[in-house]
Amino acid sequence: MRKVKWAVEYLKNSSKRVEDPSSLKSQWKKDYKQLHVEIGCGKGNYSMDMARMYPQDFFVAIEKNESAAGIAAKKFDEAQDLNNLCLIHGDAISIGEWFDKEEIDVIHLNFSDPWPKKRYAKRRLSSSSFLDQYKTILSKDGEIQMKTDNELLFEYSVLEFLSHDFILKDFCVNYRREPHPEDAITEYEEKFIAQNQPIFRCVLKKKEDPDENNS
Ligand SMILES: C[S@@+](CC[C@H](N)C(=O)[O-])C[C@H]1O[C@@H](n2cnc3c(N)ncnc32)[C@H](O)[C@@H]1O
Repeated sequence: MRKVKWAVEYLKNSSKRVEDPSSLKSQWKKDYKQLHVEIGCGKGNYSMDMARMYPQDFFVAIEKNESAAGIAAKKFDEAQDLNNLCLIHGDAISIGEWFDKEEIDVIHLNFSDPWPKKRYAKRRLSSSSFLDQYKTILSKDGEIQMKTDNELLFEYSVLEFLSHDFILKDFCVNYRREPHPEDAITEYEEKFIAQNQPIFRCVLKKKEDPDENNS
């Protein structure tokens, strides 16, 4: 995306940006019912709309691109009615340092960059080094909810999830065939819906730990 000149300065002063996410490790949920984390939130519409739809839950949006994060931070600050929402400007490869074991209830991966070339596969948000961390920080009944327009990324991701001890809870190859008012539409999703492109979606859960039942 085009560079937003004011983003760096804005991010420094934003009240909704968490400067040191690891300082909140194990404290994110406070009195909220569920903790949701959106990775790669872009300009932030999804987390903001979801925070408004689910005031009993807390939402953390993560974005590494400075310009997108700056725009998201400004939107979050302007939504003064929303106290259940914040932004981390950073690379989610460090996510395991920011959240405690089993702290997160839902991880949202919305229209993640596909990184089609094999040499960049490690950057995919559904690649091994990310999945190992998600497994640790997701609660026992926690979920990963993934939406994408990209069939190849979808196939790759489902196989990665399955080979990392996740199980499929839901799977859909044309998610917006039905309206789904319970789930906000992201900026990218809006474009694909307008172009009549199908949206792929899957929901994953962690496999139960057999050792836990034996103890
Ligand atoms: C294609 S955009 C989708 C934006 C938004 N989720 C949507 O659906 O409209 C993907 C976003 O993920 C961000 N992203 C990619 N890898 C990331 C990472 N490792 N940590 C944080 N953000 C990341 C990119 O900077 C980009 O803004």
